[in-house]
Amino acid sequence: MFDSKMFSVLFAAALCIFGYYIVYFFYDMICRKHWKVGSRVVIVGASTGIGKEIAKIYAKKGASLMLFSRKKNELENVARECLQCSANFEGKREKPRICVGDITNKEDCIRLAKVVENEFGGTDILVLNAGISMDLTFDEINSLEDIDNVYGELMKVNYFGTVHMTKVFSEQLEKSHGQVVCVSTGSGVLGTPRRTGYVASKHALHGFFNSLRNEWKEKNITVTIACPGFVATNIRSAAVKGGRAKAAIDPERRMMSPERCAELIVQAAEQKRKVFHLTNSSFLGSLIYPIPLVSSAVDYILRRKMRKEMPKFTKEKD
Ligand SMILES: NC(=O)c1ccc[n+]([C@@H]2O[C@H](COP(=O)([O-])OP(=O)(O)OC[C@H]3O[C@@H](n4cnc5c(N)ncnc54)[C@H](OP(=O)(O)O)[C@@H]3O)[C@@H](O)[C@H]2O)c1
Repeated sequence: MFDSKMFSVLFAAALCIFGYYIVYFFYDMICRKHWKVGSRVVIVGASTGIGKEIAKIYAKKGASLMLFSRKKNELENVARECLQCSANFEGKREKPRICVGDITNKEDCIRLAKVVENEFGGTDILVLNAGISMDLTFDEINSLEDIDNVYGELMKVNYFGTVHMTKVFSEQLEKSHGQVVCVSTGSGVLGTPRRTGYVASKHALHGFFNSLRNEWKEKNITVTIACPGFVATNIRSAAVKGGRAKAAIDPERRMMSPERCAELIVQAAEQKRKVFHLTNSSFLGSLIYPIPLVSSAVDYILRRKMRKEMPKFTKEKD
């Protein structure tokens, strides 16, 4: 079945993949050095889930932290946990500062940037993690008014809020030659049923940050987009839902823990990655999706995945 020509092609392909991983291994070793103790890190959406775990990791590394979101009590708890996490840190330990506000409120964004300027004198790393999801098919949204409400809310938080935050911190990032870390999703480059508005808002972020990265190259500001797969957080119960939809997490379903997700995001930030997929499946999916025929297979897998998570998304409705 295999002639020698075919064998040579396969052998060359295997060699290329092996070579790529060797080069990547050394690149990884050399590039994972972008961390300075005392870096000023602002985390937007730090009260729960992935943001909270990112805060704890940066606390262990000796960052000066500012935590932002709407829930004061949760933020205070995270600040306390961060202080405990940094117990073994040998340098100067600081309790993270908190700033309560809503990313959809422009005044709150401006206030956060001012508070950070006053407290830390600038920002080195801006983590844009705040986000909400949805759990509805397009057909379940009946009127154009409802379209505006559902899609508008998602765009206001996930897209415009994130863009506003980037704007109010741009001067501070320019001075520090800092970094923006945007938490997107694997679906930010693919498509997922029941998530049209959510995925659209994340696609928009990819377009925005991939363009901004090129504009800001001269200013030496780095932009990292991190794309997690399914992570076991409460994002599903807080999602914009329809009456029939079920947002419960299937306990049988394998999801990444928020701790692991945060670890990979911080690592990608230190390596100054441009776009980083946290799971092999979303990395591979994004790579092969433009190939005709293969894209149908990727779509099929995505539909199957969602069916497992959402019992209501049945085969008949497909
Ligand atoms: N979980 C997943 O499977 C998954 C997968 C891929 C990507 N992601 C992305 O990861 C990010 C974090 O999500 P998560 O899973 O950790 O969910 P989560 O636990 O619900 O966290 C969402 C965070 O965003 C904040 N937030 C929401 N609306 C806000 C607003 N209007 N103003 C300020 N802060 C706001 C929340 O804080 P307050 O409620 O205190 O305001 C909270 O800290 C999101 O951008 C999400 O799209 C999640």
